[in-house]
Amino acid sequence: MKKVRKAVLPVAGLGTRILPAAKTTPKNLLNVWDRPLLAHVVAEGRAAGIEHFVFITGRGQGAIEDYFDHAYELEANLEAKGRTEILAAVRADLPSSGEMSFVRQMAPLGLGHAVWCARDLIGDEPFAVMLPDMLMDAEPGALSQAIAAYEAVGGNIVVVEPAPPGEAHKYGIVALGETSPGFDGRLKSMTGMVEKPAPGTEPSNLFISGRYILQPGVFDSLASGKRGAGGEIQLTDAMLDRLGADPFYALEYDGVTYDCGDPLGLLRANVAYALRDPAAADRARAAVETVLRA
Ligand code: UTP
Repeated sequence: MKKVRKAVLPVAGLGTRILPAAKTTPKNLLNVWDRPLLAHVVAEGRAAGIEHFVFITGRGQGAIEDYFDHAYELEANLEAKGRTEILAAVRADLPSSGEMSFVRQMAPLGLGHAVWCARDLIGDEPFAVMLPDMLMDAEPGALSQAIAAYEAVGGNIVVVEPAPPGEAHKYGIVALGETSPGFDGRLKSMTGMVEKPAPGTEPSNLFISGRYILQPGVFDSLASGKRGAGGEIQLTDAMLDRLGADPFYALEYDGVTYDCGDPLGLLRANVAYALRDPAAADRARAAVETVLRA
């Protein structure tokens, strides 16, 4: 079985739900407590053993590349002033040379198209897809859980979680088959997927939530450029196309997801991450309570 070494992080979406904040700042660089959202997701990938990150970027997102590079003037300035703690925090997210690649998706044609843009960099090996606006708070991390499932059963793994009651029709929902041994019954074979099913027709209440392990055959299906829902090239359609060719499994991961592409999700993530930071929890709680009392 080939190891999962590379992850694709598509960040080229327009982020309409979080405009105007994402107009000039890439939405994945918006802050979650002590660092940009994207830095939390890269840390999750590193902890899962990812060796190479492929970012699919769009116009105006050069700041992402800059974030993961040295800022010499800033670092020299902090060094001269002896601000060693802040300097360490500034350097903490830096990759080793050659650990990251950046590919332009020249038009936002959909998630499937964004993933397809990584085909040459991925080559013929299984890879992870991480949707960085979905901040998945878990221990071990969501991608580590997915890789553990992949190492047990192979094929493709789609991480899922229960939709809020009555809201399954808003999501990409999976249809499930047999339960695989282990994983507390949370790993099941996947027999189908349906985008935004009509209320009452949902095959389950589990939605596809933002982490995948995919076999490279998915690029063959994406190459057709077939448009799906919303006129976009959908990753879901390409996975459906591969259902007969490769085994697919849905893993209900153990953790909490914050959809940071939505202002309320970003707010919840900020509060949750501040409250669980031992160095700041008391001050953060006091700050939140002051706001709630006002
Ligand atoms: P979303 O469906 O959340 O779209 O994309 P979006 O544009 O980011 O946000 P909204 O819905 O308009 O507010 C899911 C993921 O796929 C990426 C996005 O950046 C996000 O990480 N994506 C989507 C691309 O990279 N390119 C695309 O053409 C579409």
